[in-house]
Amino acid sequence: MTQPTFSTALFLPFLHASHTGPQYQRLFRAFQQAILSGKLSPGTRLPATRPLCCALSLSRNTVKTAYEMLHSEGYLETRHGAGTFVSQRLPEASPARSVSGATAGAHITPPRLSKTAQRLLQLNNSNPPATGHLLQPARPCVQSFPWQQWQRHVTAAARQMKHTALINRLGSDELREQIASYLQVVRGVTCSADQVLISAGSQQGMYLALKLLLDEGEPVLIEDPGYQGVDGAITAAGARKVSVPIDDQGFRLQDGLAQAPHARVAMLTPSRNHPMGHTLSLERRLALLSWAQHCGGWLIEDDYDSEFRFDGPPLTSLQGLGGEHCVIYTGTFSRILHPSIRLGYLVLPPSLVEPFHTARRYMDGGLPLLPQMALAGFMASGQFSSHVRRMRKLYQQRRDQLHTQVQQRFGDQLQRVEADGGMHSVYRLPAGYNDCQICDQAQQSDLGIRALSRYYANGTGQQGLVIGFAGYTLAQMQQGLDSLLLIFQGLEAR
Ligand SMILES: Cc1ncc(COP(=O)(O)O)c(C=O)c1O
Repeated sequence: MTQPTFSTALFLPFLHASHTGPQYQRLFRAFQQAILSGKLSPGTRLPATRPLCCALSLSRNTVKTAYEMLHSEGYLETRHGAGTFVSQRLPEASPARSVSGATAGAHITPPRLSKTAQRLLQLNNSNPPATGHLLQPARPCVQSFPWQQWQRHVTAAARQMKHTALINRLGSDELREQIASYLQVVRGVTCSADQVLISAGSQQGMYLALKLLLDEGEPVLIEDPGYQGVDGAITAAGARKVSVPIDDQGFRLQDGLAQAPHARVAMLTPSRNHPMGHTLSLERRLALLSWAQHCGGWLIEDDYDSEFRFDGPPLTSLQGLGGEHCVIYTGTFSRILHPSIRLGYLVLPPSLVEPFHTARRYMDGGLPLLPQMALAGFMASGQFSSHVRRMRKLYQQRRDQLHTQVQQRFGDQLQRVEADGGMHSVYRLPAGYNDCQICDQAQQSDLGIRALSRYYANGTGQQGLVIGFAGYTLAQMQQGLDSLLLIFQGLEAR
């Protein structure tokens, strides 16, 4: 049987495609690709190192090193007295896989994804994230973030890391202590540091809670209108959302139970409904707690921005109202500090601490310690609390500025929904206006305002605009609202 022979013509394109790295590595990669793509078939006899280095103008050492690497990874075999060959053990018709960046992706068929991934993609397609930058609802004032102080805490945390060997899967002990003390004082949460689990933002915390409490397809009651990020957490966890209308008293539990009588989990924003800003009444809070206690269910309390209550002291959390054993309380630093900090937390009922700890160990092993330690230092120094105080004042001022500017341009056309704090205002639109149409157009003018109807299940709710003020100076608000006014004028002229 004749042996296939080596042809430099078949091999050279791969050598030219391997642009980076030392020459022996490029040569190794060129052979690897030629073999994997089937250009050099099993049994092909390779030239000896001396003629090859002459043919390619490479040093003998380069060629020898590349051959050795190919040998050790199983691409080549040596037959005594006969020379070096492409390994016979490799399949004849090896898939035309190319590890070259240039050819990768040329013939990609859509990857086969899980049902969960497909549902997440569908979510994204039906409600893509805003691309406009001005007047985004959840954006804090990032310019006011005390970068220098933060940097000092990051450096100190890096030094401290030298002495930290054991990782607690629930998160840094120092940070959990700080969060527990803060929540006890500011939010009336009844907890110890042992109950705190640090998450990569509260979105991850909510996902974890749902994943560990519900089986595939089990219902979870959520607010309608409500925070859209919850949809992502629910979808990723495989649970089934049941939208529960809210009124000016808040969550109408009985309406939810009429749709899903066996529901055991409800997720809500009791201190300030997102996006409307309503507070859950005491009567409804107590009813929710007694429902959860009776059915062995859970309330996931999303306390995302309660620091920013302008009119009066902060409200007691649902957890602090006797919910220690049935409320999973979650909060985030994305809004108080900076969106890219990606740190949040859960306060777990005592009975869930051990199961969540164990699950964490197997699911992801916990989070990187450095940012957690930096944040613990930042909180311990008192700089966190003073930043929150400064932002509360600034955001109150900005809410009022926004309202004045809106009134100057739109008069009675836009009616504000009253709320006692937050980082955005909701304005109702007059009849005949379509909030999705306005917001889609606004994106093109770099506005990140959101359509109120999109916060409702099936997008069938009230028409309005959700306008962020926290992250914007007066000049930016004016610029954004001027663009919005142009859009309104364009619609009226049609
Ligand atoms: C109501 C509400 N809950 C939770 C979150 C999620 O926060 P995180 O960025 O920590 O995931 C947000 C973010 O804007 C929010 O608006």
